Amino acid sequence: MSSQKCAVVILAAGKGTRMKSSLPKILHPVGNRAMVLHVLDQVAQIGPERTVVVLAPGMDPVHDIVAPAEIAIQDTPLGTGHAVLAARGTLAGFDGDVIVAFGDTPLITRDTLDHLLDRRRADDDPTVVVLGFRPDDPAEYGRLVVGKKGKLKAIVEYRDATPDERAIGLCNSGVMVIDGRYCLSLLDAIGNENAKGEYYLTDVVARARDRDLGCVVIEAPADEVMGVNSRNDLAAAEAVFQARRREKIMAGGATLQDPSTVYLSADTKIGRDVTIGPNVVFGPGVTVEDGATIEAFCHLEGAHIASGAKIGPYARLRPGADIREEAKIGNFVEVKKSVIGRGAKASHLSYIGDTDVGEEANIGAGTITCNYDGFDKFRTEIGAGVFVGSNTALVAPVKLGDGAMIGAGSTISKDVDEDALAVTRAEQRAVPQGAARFRARKAKKD
Ligand code: UD1
Ligand code: MG
Repeated sequence: MSSQKCAVVILAAGKGTRMKSSLPKILHPVGNRAMVLHVLDQVAQIGPERTVVVLAPGMDPVHDIVAPAEIAIQDTPLGTGHAVLAARGTLAGFDGDVIVAFGDTPLITRDTLDHLLDRRRADDDPTVVVLGFRPDDPAEYGRLVVGKKGKLKAIVEYRDATPDERAIGLCNSGVMVIDGRYCLSLLDAIGNENAKGEYYLTDVVARARDRDLGCVVIEAPADEVMGVNSRNDLAAAEAVFQARRREKIMAGGATLQDPSTVYLSADTKIGRDVTIGPNVVFGPGVTVEDGATIEAFCHLEGAHIASGAKIGPYARLRPGADIREEAKIGNFVEVKKSVIGRGAKASHLSYIGDTDVGEEANIGAGTITCNYDGFDKFRTEIGAGVFVGSNTALVAPVKLGDGAMIGAGSTISKDVDEDALAVTRAEQRAVPQGAARFRARKAKKD
């Protein structure tokens, strides 16, 4: 038996040519989170001794993204087997189990990784356990050739497969666990005589069988191990991710009136008794506390929505929007880097940026905080209980004291004291019969 420790190698050095992108494939997001980070999140939950991500040279920005995982560099992408060997430094002398996962298989779960390890550590002590699956369309996945007694005989890459082998429905997910005591020697024995001239990780099975070492398969649900090689695959992975997250949020006690139209991010947090209408998009970094309501057609990112708050329909919350208890943000209101105090309301057609809105304040329709002078940003402070009349421009930096009132149509560029009333609009002038005279003048011209 190997020791009960495990190390994880995540392959992420491939060129990802089929994505046709200048962004490394493994950084393409699913649920607004890089694919490789999904894998790392799940891997972290099984508590490996070592985690190493294999990258290509020149992927320096990725190093920080995957930290604290170790990095190994595969100098040239000569295949998945060659890629694992790039982690030789990490694996040398390691006698636990070595899990190999792919950075382009983002939907793998911790449970499945646990099952792989359990199978590796079962009494028959197989050297290699491969994670298989049965997709509806096996397409170009490697095929798993299983013998009559259920042992894995070989993994055949699609390009090298005979018609009979291509007819096999059981496919290679790419994820496997190898007994660390044999891992490096098996990988060193892999050759590259195949259609692509690459060192295939999948050959580890044949090399293990050369040495009479046992190889077996366990199966995972197809949607968990789909590999992302193209934009189409990415969209398919996104769909699976979204379906999973929606189910999880509903299981946690939120109502989604039309689940398939709600888009979530990997880090979206939704409390109990939250109601979410149709067509709501959660970008990264949104938390919604218990009992809040998000009506239809809202776009939210980097926002915190406290209990009992009501958002939308048609609201846009941008990073730093902090909507406190029972506050209301209505239609066509945009909030950025602002606190909207408890019970405060901005119900219609406003831009609120770099602002603190006090408790119970009322921001009238069409109020705009003018926070930017073309060079710098400035803050607006609106005290508790302030009433801002409709169509007001608040030219920051500016402060409205508690209880102040602003007359509709004002442009406020100086601070307003507590409980004061400020109005800046020009005085109204009425010309008696002016309208009638105007019409008469026009009528003469006809
Ligand atoms: C691989 C498997 C195939 C399996 C499929 C599942 C091999 C030879 N084939 O094919 O059996 O059905 O995954 O999705 O393993 N990578 C490197 N260095 C390289 C090549 C690849 O790090 O030199 C990385 C890639 O970044 C990627 C992963 O390994 O994360 C898989 O590579 P990819 O080229 O996508 O392999 P597939 O053709 O999908
Ligand atoms: Mg792939």
